[in-house]
Amino acid sequence: MEVNEDNIEKCQKRIITYGTFDLFHYGHLRLIKRAKALGGYLVVAVSTDLFNTIKGKVCHYPYKHRAQIVEALKHVDKVIPESSWDQKVKDIIEHDIDMLVMGDDWTGKFDHLKSHCDVVYLSRTPNISSTIIKMELSQS
Ligand code: CTP
Repeated sequence: MEVNEDNIEKCQKRIITYGTFDLFHYGHLRLIKRAKALGGYLVVAVSTDLFNTIKGKVCHYPYKHRAQIVEALKHVDKVIPESSWDQKVKDIIEHDIDMLVMGDDWTGKFDHLKSHCDVVYLSRTPNISSTIIKMELSQS
């Protein structure tokens, strides 16, 4: 098929990743850059505030702000809300996803999705997380 401006999105591998992305940091950026490099079209599902409550996570920034920050990145083509654990199959079908990418803190947790798309775990960037930043700031 000839690739042109109208069909370029369909010809690229389509990737999805999930996360909270509070206090957006270098580890988040590296994950997103590497996810994008595996494909061409990147969907990022950002956890909603209600879903974070269900997960027992307390965010500094509300969903609206976290989603806007992720959406502003040039590597990100689309942001969708992540509001439940079990929406992934629906997302994969709806967004025609070829590969789900997660940090390796999730290794094995999404292997059941391999019948729907490739599942790849990328190494986490060491020594940085939203939790570490919050802890360090609270101690300073
Ligand atoms: N991530 C990463 N390297 C880090 C931190 C996060 O690759 N140092 C990845 C995670 O594996 C995940 C995505 O970034 O795929 C979003 O992670 P998130 O849970 O939002 O970030 P954390 O900083 O780990 O947040 P928290 O401390 O609240 O768990």
